[in-house]
Amino acid sequence: MKIVLIHGQAHKGSTWHIADMLLQNIECEKQVREFFLPRELNHFCLGCYRCIDGRERCPFWEDKRVLDEAIRQADLLIFTTPNYCMMPSAPMKAFLDLFFTNWLTHKPYKEMFGKRAVVISTAAGAGAGKAAKLLADNLFNWGIPQVKRYSVNVNAMNWAMVPDRKKDKTARDMRRLAARLSAEPRVRVGIKTRFLFSFYGSMQKANWGASESEKEYWESNGWLNGKKPWKQ
Ligand SMILES: Cc1cc2nc3c(=O)[nH]c(=O)nc-3n(C[C@H](O)[C@H](O)[C@H](O)COP(=O)(O)O)c2cc1C
Repeated sequence: MKIVLIHGQAHKGSTWHIADMLLQNIECEKQVREFFLPRELNHFCLGCYRCIDGRERCPFWEDKRVLDEAIRQADLLIFTTPNYCMMPSAPMKAFLDLFFTNWLTHKPYKEMFGKRAVVISTAAGAGAGKAAKLLADNLFNWGIPQVKRYSVNVNAMNWAMVPDRKKDKTARDMRRLAARLSAEPRVRVGIKTRFLFSFYGSMQKANWGASESEKEYWESNGWLNGKKPWKQ
């Protein structure tokens, strides 16, 4: 299984440790790549919309390309973020903005419809669930049909301060989640994804997309003539 981890933080704190527990418990032959933000992508979207006409037209494409390729090749994506002010971290938010062309509304990659993702978020006291949901919603809108969320309030500012009781509970949760991920290799595309895909397809057909290039993309994939990315 090809596993790619994208961390919304460059340090190995509570969030990283929990993701690492999950990773270590996944039982299969693994090829793992790990990216730490903002170290491995340190840009903000300029709002120039050049990506709408072609991903490679983004001024930061050369830096983004490495992550883009790794994500497309992965079977399982693990995204992590600490909760900062009730939201995903700023580097994670910047990452999501830089990849907004992936949304179903624009130019989704067909590979996404066969992937699974896990989102992990921690907070000191409140808001981990909120940060995880924002991140998971983005990935779902990339077309990833199965996005699992794990959020935990660790009552601490760093991993060393996390109470043992909390660490034990988290370890049990990660073993359980890893067992499910190891045992369920087939991804099923749900009704919500199917509905959104056909809704955005009708928008492209009616020329209500963001650009001519988007419509060409949908057409060239055969998606405006009945083909479905999850069958390709
Ligand atoms: C800038 C900043 C903002 C934070 N905002 C919140 C918050 O809104 N709610 C909360 O419970 N914890 C908040 N925290 C605490 C972290 O979310 C928490 O300690 C988290 O587990 C840190 O994860 P890490 O060890 O992976 O960095 C904040 C921490 C920082 C540095």
